[in-house]
Amino acid sequence: MNKSVRKAVIAGNWKMNKTPAQTTALIQELAPLTKGQDGCDIVVCTPFVDLANALEATKGTNIKVGAQNVHFEAAGAFTGEISAEMLCEMGVEYVIIGHSERRQYFGETDETVNKRVKAALASGLTVILCVGEMLDERENGITNEIVAMQTKMALLGVTADQMNKVIIAYEPVWAIGTGKTATADQAEEVCAFIRSVLADLYGEEAAKTVPVQYGGSMNAGNAAELLAKENIDGGLIGGASLKPADFAKIIQAAQN
Ligand code: 13P
Repeated sequence: MNKSVRKAVIAGNWKMNKTPAQTTALIQELAPLTKGQDGCDIVVCTPFVDLANALEATKGTNIKVGAQNVHFEAAGAFTGEISAEMLCEMGVEYVIIGHSERRQYFGETDETVNKRVKAALASGLTVILCVGEMLDERENGITNEIVAMQTKMALLGVTADQMNKVIIAYEPVWAIGTGKTATADQAEEVCAFIRSVLADLYGEEAAKTVPVQYGGSMNAGNAAELLAKENIDGGLIGGASLKPADFAKIIQAAQN
């Protein structure tokens, strides 16, 4: 099975939650629960101001740290922005790019997603690239067109070699924070489709090695069924990643 060539990645997207002190406390509670759970990569993506505390608290653990966005320029007059070099120098290894909340509320476009992806990869960050359809797009039967377009636009100019630092997160917008999860079959169908898009772009062999996560109301109760699917290689978890016991259960479900 191809799934066995890919290591699952369980990543928490904390969104705009937790202060620095709360970050330290959450990771101190989480770390003992993830000990020895090395069957998947574990990442927490915190707000920028929490990254230093997250990096300190995760020292000596199997938990890695990611940011939730990155600017595409290297430096300059971009008030309020954070560069890839800044993140790398801190020790941050991952970055979420193109989350639907950034697309919906902060003017993120396929073009700016692509610029961020290229800047992040050039600096050596591992990218968690988010794609996913809105409810009306699903209802109109254009889910595949939307995720294919988002995936292809985001990866314009990204080479096959660079794909070993790319994770795709399929996040149907209608399932985010709604408690309404895609069924395991629905999620598998789109994740498999995304892999076929990657195969078109980079060839079958490369496509086999790229982790494709599911995100959208994944929790301790539904993770095992989702993660058992052939093309679902982990999860990008919002709400449940803020509860150490629940996040640890999802990590446990990803061990096989
Ligand atoms: P929830 O798990 O809260 O639905 O959020 C999913 C998500 O947006 C992760 O990036």
